[in-house]
Amino acid sequence: MPLPARSADGQGTSGGNGENTGNRPMPSLADFVDRAQIAALRRPIKEASGLPAVVYTSEAFFELERKTLLPKQWMAVAYGHEIPEAGDAMPLKVLGLPVMLVRGADGSLRAFHNVCRHRGTMVLKEPVKRAKTLRCPYHSWTYDLEGNLRARPLWDGREDPAEDRLVSIPCREWVDIVYLNLSGDAEPFEDYFGFLSERWKPYDFDALQACGSREWEVATNWKLFALGVVEPYHEPFIHPQIVKIIEDPETGAKKMDNDTFDAHLEKNCIGVVTPIEDRDFDLAHGLPFLPGPPEGFKRNMDIFLMFPTGVVVLARDHILNMIATPTAADKMRVKVALYASAEAVADPKLNDARAALFDDWVEIMEQDIEALTLQLEGHRSPIADQAKFSPFWESSAHYFEKHVVDLLEKG
Ligand code: FES
Ligand SMILES: [Fe+2]
Repeated sequence: MPLPARSADGQGTSGGNGENTGNRPMPSLADFVDRAQIAALRRPIKEASGLPAVVYTSEAFFELERKTLLPKQWMAVAYGHEIPEAGDAMPLKVLGLPVMLVRGADGSLRAFHNVCRHRGTMVLKEPVKRAKTLRCPYHSWTYDLEGNLRARPLWDGREDPAEDRLVSIPCREWVDIVYLNLSGDAEPFEDYFGFLSERWKPYDFDALQACGSREWEVATNWKLFALGVVEPYHEPFIHPQIVKIIEDPETGAKKMDNDTFDAHLEKNCIGVVTPIEDRDFDLAHGLPFLPGPPEGFKRNMDIFLMFPTGVVVLARDHILNMIATPTAADKMRVKVALYASAEAVADPKLNDARAALFDDWVEIMEQDIEALTLQLEGHRSPIADQAKFSPFWESSAHYFEKHVVDLLEKG
């Protein structure tokens, strides 16, 4: 069941985010970005200007995204391995709304609004393991793992079958990331991420195992984080341990030691693919390759933003997933998880290699976080309105900003 829409006068309704906005009209993209700025963004990349800084710093703009952009997408919100077994359930906040994820007896994952159908108490306060039912702590209305109401002790009020169930939210699990569509009307998941559903078909993602995770609070805007994921221009400057600047032996010009990549700008799959025939930057630690692809399969380093809040980095021998949780215009959390083949995780001889790989990623994340924090601070000035893109390195960043504008214009 989709969230009830807001009324035209901006008055909050029962399914919104719980705030009563009174008669304050909902802002729109035009309140922050004028036509000339949108036209400038849509110019060919060499002449294009980026979105004005306000879209990265304004709480009102974040509110617009929270109401009209993000709920309509398939948002990455959690990892499947956080609730691995039947009856495992966890509460979480998604765009300020209380939600819960529940692993059913059949092993499939479901998502519900974490709100009791009696008088609206949050049902699940903390993660539970192997539960048979979910009981609201206030008057004990009790739901099964499929969200059906199973007990209503001492109840003598009206029976209303339409309200007897927890309200479900469309939920999909892929490469261990759990995606939710809060509005309930996004296009089908396989089409939404169609490019990668096809591209990653050879991989056996069920044979992967998580082998490390970490979470950070980051003082930046979720879109700056997303942009940092998709553009490789920054890599030799803030991650010199993995990408170096060298001199071209023939011309003497400076270049990155690995400047061969393809940008893929495929609807909600936004990323870069780097061929790694015989190298994996300096992240190679000798783990066995990921299971699935046949002998001779050309392995690459795929770094993709799963728009808006998921990231999958698929290397030859590991995957690093990220989930961004925007909580304010200038605040988000990012949670990473590392995966290798079950064989690599089971082998104690590879303990050091896995730990070293995880440490490499933590170092990279912390370098990114420092830069993203400074970038947010710079964006508090209108001087940052004059953003420009490198045509070679930043086509993905340019695409991302245009994608956000396209979606906000669509409403
Ligand atoms: S509010 Fe949940 S049982 Fe009363
Ligand atoms: Fe980076």
